[in-house]
Amino acid sequence: MRIGSRLAVAAATLSTVLAYTPCPILGPVFPAPSSLCDADSFQAALKNISTTLDYAGNTGKTPYGNIPSNATSFTVGVFSADETLFSHQYTSPWLKTSTQGATEVGVDSVFRIGSGSKLITTYLWLVEVGTKYWGHSITEFVPELAEAPQNCSASADPVDCIDWDEITLGALASHMAGVPRDYSTPLELLTQVASLPPQMFGAPALPASTFPPCGYNFTNACSEEQYADGLAAAHPIYAPYTTPIYSNAGFELLGFALANITGRSFPDMLQEDLFNKLHMADSSYFVPKNLTNAVMPGGPVNSFFVADLGGETPDGGMYSSQADLIKMGQSILNASLLSPTTIRQWMKPSTFTSQMNTGVGMPWEIWRVATPSNHIVDLYTKSGDLFSYSSHFVLIPDYNIGYVVLAAGKQTTSTVEQISDIMAATLVPALENTARAQSQENYAGVYKSANSSQASNMTLTTNTGEAGLVVKSWYSQGVNLMPVLAQLFVGALTPVDIRMFPTNLVQQVSPTKQRISYRLIVRALAEAPNGGLFSSDCEQWAMVDSKTYGNVGLDEVVFEVENGKATTVNPRAWRAVYNKTASVGEYVERGIM
Ligand SMILES: *[C@@H]1O[C@H](CO)[C@@H](O)[C@H](O)[C@H]1NC(C)=O
Ligand SMILES: *[C@@H]1O[C@H](CO)[C@@H](O)[C@H](O)[C@H]1NC(C)=O
Ligand SMILES: *[C@@H]1O[C@H](CO)[C@@H](O)[C@H](O)[C@H]1NC(C)=O
Ligand SMILES: *[C@@H]1O[C@H](CO)[C@@H](O)[C@H](O)[C@H]1NC(C)=O
Ligand SMILES: *[C@@H]1O[C@H](CO)[C@@H](O)[C@H](O)[C@H]1NC(C)=O
Ligand SMILES: *[C@@H]1O[C@H](CO)[C@@H](O)[C@H](O)[C@H]1NC(C)=O
Ligand SMILES: *[C@@H]1O[C@H](CO)[C@@H](O)[C@H](O)[C@H]1NC(C)=O
Ligand SMILES: *[C@@H]1O[C@H](CO)[C@@H](O)[C@H](O)[C@H]1NC(C)=O
Ligand SMILES: *[C@@H]1O[C@H](CO)[C@@H](O)[C@H](O)[C@H]1NC(C)=O
Ligand SMILES: *[C@@H]1O[C@H](CO)[C@@H](O)[C@H](O)[C@H]1NC(C)=O
Repeated sequence: MRIGSRLAVAAATLSTVLAYTPCPILGPVFPAPSSLCDADSFQAALKNISTTLDYAGNTGKTPYGNIPSNATSFTVGVFSADETLFSHQYTSPWLKTSTQGATEVGVDSVFRIGSGSKLITTYLWLVEVGTKYWGHSITEFVPELAEAPQNCSASADPVDCIDWDEITLGALASHMAGVPRDYSTPLELLTQVASLPPQMFGAPALPASTFPPCGYNFTNACSEEQYADGLAAAHPIYAPYTTPIYSNAGFELLGFALANITGRSFPDMLQEDLFNKLHMADSSYFVPKNLTNAVMPGGPVNSFFVADLGGETPDGGMYSSQADLIKMGQSILNASLLSPTTIRQWMKPSTFTSQMNTGVGMPWEIWRVATPSNHIVDLYTKSGDLFSYSSHFVLIPDYNIGYVVLAAGKQTTSTVEQISDIMAATLVPALENTARAQSQENYAGVYKSANSSQASNMTLTTNTGEAGLVVKSWYSQGVNLMPVLAQLFVGALTPVDIRMFPTNLVQQVSPTKQRISYRLIVRALAEAPNGGLFSSDCEQWAMVDSKTYGNVGLDEVVFEVENGKATTVNPRAWRAVYNKTASVGEYVERGIM
């Protein structure tokens, strides 16, 4: 055939296009790995983490710098939607000498989670009222802010006055409101100038009325009215929706607003609708009454364990444990309190930051990891710090996995970051490799038309270090579809790379049987990046479903899967079902013709 001979020429040039890297769709590139407790490579990664964390505790050394392990205790847990995969505790010599609370860290030990509270506040918000208020203005729900223009009008002076009517709840939840970071915390200079003459700062003496009447050191929490009035009098930081500007105050306002909408108290909602429902018995809004499991290096007061943050609690004051945060993470991965769509919508960025690999959501701190396979894995995280405590809660939705790190002692911020560095550096490649190996085992092989007179078949594999399930060859009714698809999708008889990615559309046919949908990406192997911003693009997301036959996408593929193993593949536009006939070993070459 004419097509065949031209292809032979094209195939001969294959060796000159080695710079090709696949261009995956953002999101899962394989089905999330399962049975991780039995997956050897994943268990080896956990063993590695365990050894590294033991070494960090014993010596204070990590691959990412030193931690003060004589003073700082930590706890780390890794979880999937339905099991805890790993749990590691380290108790510092300092904590062992505590005269009150825990002297040994365990999965139920109670820590303060600092700004991890913001994530819980947002989760509670979604559980209570969903997403429908995100576009509403905060002034609808906080009367003091509605009245603020009487004293300071943004239309007259946008530099000095916050335009509260323009501040939406969604902007507050994503740090995009440009409002003050705090109102009256220990960072307020008053706490220092109270005992020192202001001249020491080269500053004029101010009338007492200038200083916040409450707050500062969390010993006399501000009332809602004091807080909102104080914020209303503060200067704006940035114009709303300019850029992410971290704001604790924004989450205190969200706490007020949620109570206003529901007519219930924030702590009651939190206790009844989140902590009780998820059996998070060691989590609380208020200072726990029973301090038996409390981790309090230096004692209850010095550690700040017992400091009541009042209205700041929704943004930084909550208490929790490794076991409880795992329950919360599992409820998110499992979509047990919200619909799967709401969860997916929630786990998305609202904005970038000035770093290429980070974004901000509600209030996710998103870290983008590029794996060697040109696959970007997004980590949806929330970190928190409060005096002696730091926390990091991390979900990796592409693999349906999460982990949590809690620490108490000294230099906990950097300690938690370093431990989280270890976790991410080891887990992300291990998850990708395990998912790829499971796809190879469960999907790779030769599929043939059940009707032998149709002479149709498809050979699938995975490539070492690459994302997605690769179509190695494909014949339909005796016709080689590789050149056909090259013509249709690339517009030329050129060697193509065809691989597919799962779409998150799954039909549970029976307890053991599923139909799982994928979409194919057809791309010229010659498409190596040339350095140009636009011409080097990897815009495959724009091409999905771009060719249809009888109203069905040429790129639509559905597998029937029994106990996780594919039994048939159905390239829908061809209206054909091919049965899996044999498995194949892993192909490392990219021969496609
Ligand atoms: C853990 O894995 C890293 C990266 O692969 C490796 O450098 C390190 O030696 C491993 N550590 C242990 C204790 O196995
Ligand atoms: C931990 O070790 C450092 C360095 O030796 C020392 O300065 C510090 O006081 C120790 N802290 C505690 C709580 O033992
Ligand atoms: C998550 O869902 C799985 C499967 O539906 C179920 O077996 C498991 O118990 C759930 N786990 C939690 C923590 O809800
Ligand atoms: C909610 O806020 C609005 C406007 O800010 C106010 O008029 C209303 O009284 C508040 N409702 C409750 C229940 O606090
Ligand atoms: C306006 O400012 C005065 C004096 O600072 C204050 O007492 C009052 O509560 C403010 N009113 C509003 C609506 O913010
Ligand atoms: C906190 O601030 C209040 C009011 O300024 C002061 O009376 C109190 O002594 C302070 N407490 C601490 C622990 O610094
Ligand atoms: C406090 O908590 C510990 C650990 O959970 C428990 O054993 C003890 O009974 C509790 N004490 C009270 C007074 O509830
Ligand atoms: C093809 O697979 C289907 C579904 O698994 C099965 O019912 C059918 O018998 C198979 N046909 C052949 C020829 O193997
Ligand atoms: C098998 O395929 C041939 C050719 O497409 C067709 O004529 C025949 O009806 C098919 N047989 C069955 C049982 O579907
Ligand atoms: C697939 O079908 C083509 C065309 O009928 C045939 O040449 C090829 O050998 C078949 N491949 C497999 C793996 O059965």
